[in-house]
Amino acid sequence: MSKRTNRIPDNFVDWFRGSSPYIHAHRNRTFVIAFGGEAVADTEFANLVHDIALLHGIGIRLVLVHGARPQIEEKLNTRGVEMQYINGLRVTDDTALTCVKEAAGTVRVEVEALLSMGLANSPMAGASIRVASGNFVTARPIGVRDGIDYCHTGEVRRVDAVGIEQRLASGAIALVPPLGYSPTGEVFNLSAADVAASVAIALGADKLINLIEAKGVTDSRNRLIPNMVPKAVDTLLARRKQLPEDLVQNLNAALTACRSGVKRVHLIDRKLDGALLKELFTRDGIGTLITAEPYEETRTARIDDVGGLLELIEPLEEEGMLVRRSRELLETEIDCFTLMERDGMVIACAALYPYSKESMAELACVVVHPDYRGGDRGERLLEHMEKSAKAQGIEKLFILTTQTAHWFREHGFVQGDLKDLPMRKRELYNYRRNSKVFIKPL
Ligand SMILES: CC(C)(COP(=O)(O)OP(=O)(O)OC[C@H]1O[C@@H](n2cnc3c(N)ncnc32)[C@H](O)[C@@H]1OP(=O)(O)O)[C@@H](O)C(=O)NCCC(=O)NCCS
Repeated sequence: MSKRTNRIPDNFVDWFRGSSPYIHAHRNRTFVIAFGGEAVADTEFANLVHDIALLHGIGIRLVLVHGARPQIEEKLNTRGVEMQYINGLRVTDDTALTCVKEAAGTVRVEVEALLSMGLANSPMAGASIRVASGNFVTARPIGVRDGIDYCHTGEVRRVDAVGIEQRLASGAIALVPPLGYSPTGEVFNLSAADVAASVAIALGADKLINLIEAKGVTDSRNRLIPNMVPKAVDTLLARRKQLPEDLVQNLNAALTACRSGVKRVHLIDRKLDGALLKELFTRDGIGTLITAEPYEETRTARIDDVGGLLELIEPLEEEGMLVRRSRELLETEIDCFTLMERDGMVIACAALYPYSKESMAELACVVVHPDYRGGDRGERLLEHMEKSAKAQGIEKLFILTTQTAHWFREHGFVQGDLKDLPMRKRELYNYRRNSKVFIKPL
């Protein structure tokens, strides 16, 4: 009988309970997981496969799509040749195709071997997983472009979704190589990212997860962008010309998938141990999630938001509801603004002007785009502003309003007097505008 030890981590129960909503949510869903040949060549690859086995174990229907680029290059090197790339596309000649077939075969065998493990005392004990690979992808040559014959480099023509579904229904994990077959009996070298996106689309997968070489998509200061919508990916691809080739390929594939009905595409760092589990079983995840549905976020405004803010507030300035602000003033005060962004569009904003000496701050320019009113955004934005004011040591908020008094009253503001305001503000008060003063203690 095995000896029981008491070495259970303190937070084990909380942690396990915390992941249960995700276990329920993911069961019976279909995920396509794509990884490059780099992941297979890594000494930690077994850990990734164990995590994949765990996902299979909790009832997730899995399709794995693998790449084989380093393995192909290695085989070419031993023959003293190099893969040719022209305009970002590889040219697969006869020698290269032989290497592609050999490399894809080797990778397949390695993945199958690791998924077949079942040693006692290993993470795979009792797993007994069936892997099904096959001719699921039909391809066609990309042909001759600008006079260059790309030979056996192809693109996906069709995916045998029924065939893959049958394997999944039988309880197997489907394994799809970056190869495609044509009705003429030829074999084509395909991009794993494209194959994964095509498979995800054909299956109507719930998620496409790309394990990539970067930590996700990052901004120009190398900070991770946790959520993106396709439009934001378009902008990023148009602006940032220096992105690594494999990220560009993955992003383009993600766009195609998102725009063809795959609801969630995750780009995560394959080098991070447990990346798949962290992404799928924690609220915030660790990589970049690209969702087709419009995504809203509340954040501090930046200088390149000035255009969007002006579009939102100018109509209200014209109606006399807001005090006019020039573009220059908005640029200088941009740090005071918070906005709500939805699918790349500014749909609400508010500004906070602190008067630190008096521990007060003016809340101003609270606007929700007319198309989005009545959905609690005003209320949520107000809560956000109150929190951020509190964090700055502010004890009271005040607002000057001509037409929205009741809304503020309904949100805890009480009518005040000019003399309640900081002296600096009193001096600037516009008697012609005759705004009412409302105050809310925080
Ligand atoms: C005031 C404002 C920010 C509220 O945004 P919102 O996202 O619609 O807010 P909520 O969904 O949280 O609240 C909606 C409720 O406020 C009410 N409301 C909206 N404007 C109001 C006003 N001027 N006076 C009183 N109540 C108002 C709505 O009738 C609705 O109530 P109901 O559902 O009971 O009918 C938005 O209407 C707006 O942008 N108005 C124009 C700009 C403005 O006046 N800003 C304040 C000056 S700084």
